[in-house]
Amino acid sequence: MSAEMTDLEKLAEHVAKNAYSPYSTFSVGAAIRTTSGNVYSGCNVENVSSGLTVCAERNAVGAAIAAEGKSMRIEEVFVTNFNAEGATIHCSPCGACRQVMAEFSTPDTKVIYRGDEDNIVTTMGQLLPDGFTL
Ligand code: THU
Repeated sequence: MSAEMTDLEKLAEHVAKNAYSPYSTFSVGAAIRTTSGNVYSGCNVENVSSGLTVCAERNAVGAAIAAEGKSMRIEEVFVTNFNAEGATIHCSPCGACRQVMAEFSTPDTKVIYRGDEDNIVTTMGQLLPDGFTL
């Protein structure tokens, strides 16, 4: 991990601490910068009815849409996590979150997430090539 944390990284780390994840004990934080330059965040919110759990990335997208409306577009996303031992693990955004982020992204939208050692810097186009569209 680089010594210098970006604003998005700091925010993602901060909100991961607010995750409601009593079932998996896996906490995720996501921070989004929109093309307007504003930043929004989300953490995972689990439910006793497992299928109702919502990932951090999708909650961050919801916060961004709620604030900016339907013209909201994502410039950059940062996703972090920690497990019950407090360790951060390699974890890329799940398939459902990729499809939801893609709705408000371009193929060049930057996505950064935790790898085994360093952060992995990639794009929406690389994470979701040929994603569903109508
Ligand atoms: N989770 C996320 O928040 N984002 C992802 O992209 C993958 C999984 C959450 C959902 C659940 O609360 C926990 O991680 C374990 O699956």
